[in-house]
Amino acid sequence: MPVVSTVNVELGERSYPIVIGNGLVGGEFDLAAYIPGADCLVVTNQTVAPLYLDGLKRNLAGKAIAILTLPDGESYKSLETASSIIDKLIDRGAGRDTTVVALGGGVVGDVAGFAAASYMRGVAFVQVPTTLLAQVDSSVGGKTGVNHAEGKNLIGAFHQPRIVLIDIDTLSTLPDRELRAGLAEVIKYGAIADVGFLEWLEVNLDALLSKDAAALTHAIRRSCELKAQVVAADERESSRRAILNFGHTFGHAIERCQGYGDWLHGEAVAAGMIMAAELSGLDAGRDAHGGRAEPPRRRRARALARAGRSGRLAGRAA
Ligand SMILES: NC(=O)c1ccc[n+]([C@@H]2O[C@H](COP(=O)([O-])OP(=O)(O)OC[C@H]3O[C@@H](n4cnc5c(N)ncnc54)[C@H](O)[C@@H]3O)[C@@H](O)[C@H]2O)c1
Repeated sequence: MPVVSTVNVELGERSYPIVIGNGLVGGEFDLAAYIPGADCLVVTNQTVAPLYLDGLKRNLAGKAIAILTLPDGESYKSLETASSIIDKLIDRGAGRDTTVVALGGGVVGDVAGFAAASYMRGVAFVQVPTTLLAQVDSSVGGKTGVNHAEGKNLIGAFHQPRIVLIDIDTLSTLPDRELRAGLAEVIKYGAIADVGFLEWLEVNLDALLSKDAAALTHAIRRSCELKAQVVAADERESSRRAILNFGHTFGHAIERCQGYGDWLHGEAVAAGMIMAAELSGLDAGRDAHGGRAEPPRRRRARALARAGRSGRLAGRAA
């Protein structure tokens, strides 16, 4: 039973579905139906391509498909890489009716989305995220961009995808360290917007770390629902959307100072959330209805520490 659920991001004419399920990539899901023209460029990387590219081609049956396989790593989330994607589109003579399809984690999604936003002032874009972090966060909401030596994500554009296709089965090949980094963003949603979800995470953390399909499905769906609500209320981050940056001020500083790619983004955010919580001295959060709740800060930090135990937080959380 492939599609488990669909979450809609309500943005008027830019609305789109987040389709969540199992066996979607390489299965019968008709992704071609979301590609407006006859042509698409799939952007992926050298780690993800051998795993999922052949399957994705089946989902795009009937379309003319070009492939661009990038090197792997945060250091390739750069203007040079965006430029190489645009070069590929120009080489193909791609018109405004072409679609850029991102297959991979947040790095591929961010840079491919930025190229899609820039080429001919914007062509259609599709996200097929394959890391937990990309499934719960970076593929949803339309933020695209690249890093600059002077700062993380300094160059970018808002460009919403036509669809986000989340195949939970792709997480089966995700390294443990990447899973934990993605969990940091999941925990973020509990901390900023849903105390009940934070409590559920505490109870189900071991199931999530062992990639239990039901637990992952719930965590991904709830995270996408919470992000979709925030994005629908404030697409361009003029107010409410800034709440999604919880932990990111410290996190981005860590990433930049350590050199992009040394700390994973999720690890830096996890540490950043603990630092922000300690700095603010907040012991209470807000529940889904905006009410004051009482999740002790210590509980929040403990959940974060468990999620990052094998990674950078191990020493910090002790
Ligand atoms: N646009 C946004 O709103 C937003 C939000 C949060 C984070 N981000 C960005 O996302 C990036 C981090 O994304 P990420 O954590 O996905 O990192 P990533 O894209 O570097 O992926 C992590 C690693 O996992 C590999 N990988 C991907 N899918 C795999 C799979 N299924 N099996 C095995 N290996 C797989 C990748 O090749 C890479 O080596 C950062 O640049 C961050 O700034 C963007």
